[in-house]
Amino acid sequence: MIFKQFFDDASSTYTYLLADENTLDAIIIDPVSDRIAEYTSLLEELNLTLIAALDTHVHADHVTALGLLGSKTNASTYLGTPGEIACADSALEEGQVISFGTLSLNVMYTPGHTDDSYCFLLKQKDDAFMLFSGDTLLIGGTGRTDFQNGSASNLYDSLNQKILTLPENTIVYPGHDYHGNTQSTIGNEKVNNERVKIKDKALFIEFMNNLDLPDPKQMDVAVPANKSCGKIHSINEK
Ligand code: FE2
Repeated sequence: MIFKQFFDDASSTYTYLLADENTLDAIIIDPVSDRIAEYTSLLEELNLTLIAALDTHVHADHVTALGLLGSKTNASTYLGTPGEIACADSALEEGQVISFGTLSLNVMYTPGHTDDSYCFLLKQKDDAFMLFSGDTLLIGGTGRTDFQNGSASNLYDSLNQKILTLPENTIVYPGHDYHGNTQSTIGNEKVNNERVKIKDKALFIEFMNNLDLPDPKQMDVAVPANKSCGKIHSINEK
């Protein structure tokens, strides 16, 4: 498998490009509009065909490259319900399988950070699962739950009923990291993640509801732009 993790330092966002090394079919997860040249040059360099571009959720901290990639390539674009998905080609759904070459992603609906948050699980043949956890599970943390129909109660259930039931050697690739970490495992997070370690739902909700965080810097631009898959933002800039 071809695997590349990109980092956008302006928003501390991770973007993932995955491809079947034999068929050269590729997908990209959480692309950032300002970084699109990096993605297209790697696709060209490796002669990859981008067949799908997916966002784990409508982001509040950066503008997605989904719309631009959909225009520049033949990739199908995916966003999750119940958000605004009209700009995308397809809706993400729990249990859906998105195939590229001989590889496939299993789609998991994991509301909590937002009500349109999804995680993607890649089942490799012999190795540990790879989980692209968006902002549902971060290394040593989780996404916040105080905007975009976030819900600490739903996040608790998504973590404890879905994500943390995965095998402990599942490799976690988060949507962001602010401390230089690139990956973790479910087992590590169970031991070291203070939010994951809270096993009382009421306490978890109280903890999340008292974080008192400032709004993301780009929120006023990013959320409306991302409801159009980033297209309106990119048109205005040019
Ligand atoms: Fe987010």
